Amino acid sequence: MERVLILGAGGHGQVVADVLMRMRDAGAQVAPLGYLDDAAAMQNQTLLGLPVLGGVADLDHIAHTAIVIAIGDNDTRRTVFDRLRRQGERFIVARHPQAVIAPDVRIGPGAVICAGVIISPGAVIGANVILNTACTVDHHNMIGDHVHIAPGVHLGGDVQIGAGTLVGIGATVMPQRQVGAWSILGAGALIHADLPSHVVAVGAPARIIRFRKEE
Ligand SMILES: CC(C)(COP(=O)(O)OP(=O)(O)OC[C@H]1O[C@@H](n2cnc3c(N)ncnc32)[C@H](O)[C@@H]1OP(=O)(O)O)[C@@H](O)C(=O)NCCC(=O)NCCS
Repeated sequence: MERVLILGAGGHGQVVADVLMRMRDAGAQVAPLGYLDDAAAMQNQTLLGLPVLGGVADLDHIAHTAIVIAIGDNDTRRTVFDRLRRQGERFIVARHPQAVIAPDVRIGPGAVICAGVIISPGAVIGANVILNTACTVDHHNMIGDHVHIAPGVHLGGDVQIGAGTLVGIGATVMPQRQVGAWSILGAGALIHADLPSHVVAVGAPARIIRFRKEE
């Protein structure tokens, strides 16, 4: 039985709690214990029936076998993931029972697969990725570590998304397109041409509106 702590008790943390509880209720060997969150306002709260047990430093004091990092910001989530992996933490994949995932799909540690997600054959999902509500990831996609695919996104076949990129809510990436690392695609964008790393692109068709500093 995996005894799981959720790092982050905000909106996304509660989504992850819901996923883990539904996994448990569907018969998976998963016991969500509660949240850790450094915000003072979160302490002693109970959210979706699970308690906030303390801050991140309390990981050392609370018996557990695995964690999920439930922080929406990709760079922060990456930093916390790298630090805790070095400390020897194990990361569980939180996979909603109502996600439809082809049998050969590979999913990295710490990924969160929300309700209504569809992942087609041959796709590879990196570590610490968020595939948010009802996004579709078509065949042979390569999704890098720490990526967030927001709700309602559609990725065509053979798409590649570089590490740390945010694909905004409702965006569409046409088949075979490649998007670099640590970029942001705006809500509703239509990606019809490849995009480099470290850019912000919006619109349909998408255009680059600015560059981001290197991570
Ligand atoms: C792309 C984005 C990051 C830009 O944020 P920003 O840097 O604060 O940009 P601004 O709001 O200052 O807008 C800059 C320009 O881009 C336009 N723009 C911003 N977002 C846009 C979008 N999604 N589609 C089309 N145009 C957009 C603005 O209208 C503005 O145009 P102007 O210069 O002609 O007035 C943000 O608007 C966005 O879409 N984020 C995605 C959020 C999301 O989906 N998160 C996942 C939640 S689960």
